[in-house]
Amino acid sequence: MSYLKYPVAEDRPVRIGLIGAGWIGNFHAESVAFRIPNARLEAIADPAFPAVEALAGRLGVARISADPADVINDPDIDAVLIAAPARFHSGSDRGRGAGRKACILREARRAHGGRT
Ligand SMILES: NC(=O)c1ccc[n+]([C@@H]2O[C@H](COP(=O)([O-])OP(=O)(O)OC[C@H]3O[C@@H](n4cnc5c(N)ncnc54)[C@H](O)[C@@H]3O)[C@@H](O)[C@H]2O)c1
Repeated sequence: MSYLKYPVAEDRPVRIGLIGAGWIGNFHAESVAFRIPNARLEAIADPAFPAVEALAGRLGVARISADPADVINDPDIDAVLIAAPARFHSGSDRGRGAGRKACILREARRAHGGRT
């Protein structure tokens, strides 16, 4: 039985795009890169481009951008991990409406008792 809402191909890793390269984005990027089997961090975007360059350089990610829409619209990205501040989630989430990929919102309220 699968708990995944979206079926994934088993012959290649799930390609993850990260939006938000701040503190929590770095944390989740390392989880994808080092601790989640069959997942690969494929792209990173954040308006703060030096943060993108630093994280991508450390983890060896080639696709980088200052525009989160590049990750959302990238046909080679299977799922998007949104680690931007909550007020930007609705804009970052628009790819989900197209039904092309899963968007994983980091829900700060549930995980940290109301802290945002
Ligand atoms: N730091 C924590 O322990 C923690 C834990 C859980 C959840 N959160 C939540 O995660 C969110 C980010 O926290 P953080 O600590 O990483 O903050 P941060 O300030 O370190 O990083 C936020 C990043 O989001 C980027 N950003 C700003 N506007 C953006 C946009 N429109 N699209 C994409 N990225 C954008 C900023 O440039 C910055 O790099 C906050 O909502 C926070 O409450 C933080």
